[in-house]
Amino acid sequence: MTVLILGATSPIAQAVADVYAAAGFSVALAARDVEEAGRAARDLQIRHGVEARGFAFDACEDFERHAALVSEVEATLGPVDVALVAFGFMGDQQASEEDFEKARRVIEVNYTGAVSVCEAVARAMESRGAGSIIGLSSVAGERGRASNYFYGSAKGALTLYLQGLRSRLASKNVHVMTVKLGFVDTPMTFELETGIPVASPQKAAQAIFNAQGRGVETFYYPRFWGGIMGVIKSIPEKVFKRLSL
Ligand SMILES: NC(=O)c1ccc[n+]([C@@H]2O[C@H](COP(=O)([O-])OP(=O)(O)OC[C@H]3O[C@@H](n4cnc5c(N)ncnc54)[C@H](OP(=O)(O)O)[C@@H]3O)[C@@H](O)[C@H]2O)c1
Repeated sequence: MTVLILGATSPIAQAVADVYAAAGFSVALAARDVEEAGRAARDLQIRHGVEARGFAFDACEDFERHAALVSEVEATLGPVDVALVAFGFMGDQQASEEDFEKARRVIEVNYTGAVSVCEAVARAMESRGAGSIIGLSSVAGERGRASNYFYGSAKGALTLYLQGLRSRLASKNVHVMTVKLGFVDTPMTFELETGIPVASPQKAAQAIFNAQGRGVETFYYPRFWGGIMGVIKSIPEKVFKRLSL
């Protein structure tokens, strides 16, 4: 069994790679920093005695390379059974409002790049009638907020895309899982001041592994975010737009 991790330098991705390697999966670590991916792959090999390799991957530099990456991974480690789309980019909301190129980057990494590589993985899995695609989306994609609507809207679009992909692949025996993450302790949430508990990447990874094994389609992690978002989505727009969220 092989797992492909896209955006392998993310702490959540690293923790997920560790859990799958511990379960005996071969691991393909795809990242912009291919040297770091290679180092992490050797670490997995030593600690878990599994096959692991690093691969070069950029979510939005060269879309044509995404299908080639999937082929290269499969030629090296065998058919991809599980693919995790872990990369993401929060960007700077204020800077994005002032310069569309910055907003465009946020949209391209979180949405266009994710769609491009998911389509490449989906074609391979669809042809075999087997596989599982996991997308890391965000609670930020559940409602547009003034403080992060470029990132939020890209994640919201990703959530809808994954929903559509799930429907397309349902009859092809390919599972698609959307993880709506709340706060997880990574560089993305560094300096975030919130009274809301922040989960560890390791606990998030175990929850993702368990849910994928059970064929779950969508879930919030940490779970209590389902309740929080239920409340946030129920606030009338005329009230919501006056809140400084
Ligand atoms: N942490 C949270 O609280 C939280 C909440 C909701 C959703 N999420 C989502 O969970 C996922 C993992 O997040 P994280 O917290 O681990 O974030 P992170 O530490 O900021 O990691 C983001 C990852 O995305 C990669 N990346 C960025 N741009 C890329 C590109 N153009 N091509 C390929 N890879 C690229 C980064 O690679 P480099 O090392 O090369 O920069 C890094 O590996 C993301 O999709 C994020 O949106 C996280």
